[in-house]
Amino acid sequence: MVRADELATHSAWDDGILRAYLTPEQTRVNAIASAWLREAGMRAWPDQAANVCGRRLVDDDDRPALLLGSHLDTVPGAGRYDGILGVLVALEVADRLRDADLPFALEVVAFGDEEGTRFGATLLGSRALAGGWKEAWLDLVDGDGVTLRDAATTFGLVPEQIGAAARPAGSLVGYLECHIEQGPRLEARDRALGVVTAIAAAERRMISYRGEARHCATPWDLRHDALLGASAAILAIERIARDQGSPATVGRIRVEPDAVNVIPGFAEFSLDLRDATAAGRDATWGLIRHELQHIAVDRGLDLEVVSTHVAPEAPCAPNLREAVAAGIRATGDDAPLELLSIAGHDAMAVADATEIGMLFVRCAGGISHHADESVLVDDVAAAIVAFEAAVLHLAAEYRRS
Ligand code: HGY
Ligand code: MN
Ligand code: MN
Repeated sequence: MVRADELATHSAWDDGILRAYLTPEQTRVNAIASAWLREAGMRAWPDQAANVCGRRLVDDDDRPALLLGSHLDTVPGAGRYDGILGVLVALEVADRLRDADLPFALEVVAFGDEEGTRFGATLLGSRALAGGWKEAWLDLVDGDGVTLRDAATTFGLVPEQIGAAARPAGSLVGYLECHIEQGPRLEARDRALGVVTAIAAAERRMISYRGEARHCATPWDLRHDALLGASAAILAIERIARDQGSPATVGRIRVEPDAVNVIPGFAEFSLDLRDATAAGRDATWGLIRHELQHIAVDRGLDLEVVSTHVAPEAPCAPNLREAVAAGIRATGDDAPLELLSIAGHDAMAVADATEIGMLFVRCAGGISHHADESVLVDDVAAAIVAFEAAVLHLAAEYRRS
């Protein structure tokens, strides 16, 4: 808990936490995480994508590793546990197991970008490690017009080498991530911990209506107001997504010309749509798309949709689910709760390289992506016990196979 408080002081904002990829704040927390990895009995190194990695000193061979980790970057106005808690729990477990005889190597990773706060594209650190880095991302620009290429160079990376952070095939036996739930289900069921079954499928789109910017003296019948189209669309999205049980969020909106006495000629908004499966997500999108088109025709607007991020559901592997469940049972909870993760996690990127499992920790009121994020110290203690037991369960299974 003290470490989470310490990391929270490394923020670009004084009021609320902001720690984005390839920033001076990341340089500072990476140095701290490296020192903590060494204290935990690990060799520590930054990889080519600015993730901080550690491997037990006793694992001085090239055996494949079980990887434990999460991320140290944040959304703007973040709390102090989203991602961070998972890194700290992994560190603690590695420390406890520093001399343990395990049938695989044990590694920890603190990813540099999960949230996508700075460059829009998400999971950059974990996708690099999993071998999914795309050279085209070097041309992404942040809000100040700085390219990822220049930001990487300033940070001390070699932009063309970021993809080399990819772990070789066969070098990992699995990935386990501990994370706050970011929802209210554990609290409602009075549980400290839960087993994640899968991470939901997601797709992000930018949706725009183009109408006509006109003087606000224009009569109703002659208006083609893009913002009224967007407003109707956003309410339709809520109605359809609620009916379908697919979480949907419009978090951004922009209008042109953005003046009090001009009818908006253009309105653009984001849509983040999730569902347990890609098929369910796409079925909901089909209904939404139909309604968006209907609104366009009704109001004389042109509709444009651009997909900016798409991810299928990421199922947790049966043996890693069982290891996490065994870990939770070791804390005295005989019937661990199983949960679908609506939130995205590094695990969904790492799933391209190895099998994944996740442990969820209760957070107060389900509040996350907000400064009020909070966890109970007893729950964190239980998470450490469960995570360690999950690793040992997996080790026993590995020895048997
Ligand atoms: O968007 C997400 O679900 C994650 O918290 N980045
Ligand atoms: Mn987050
Ligand atoms: Mn997170």
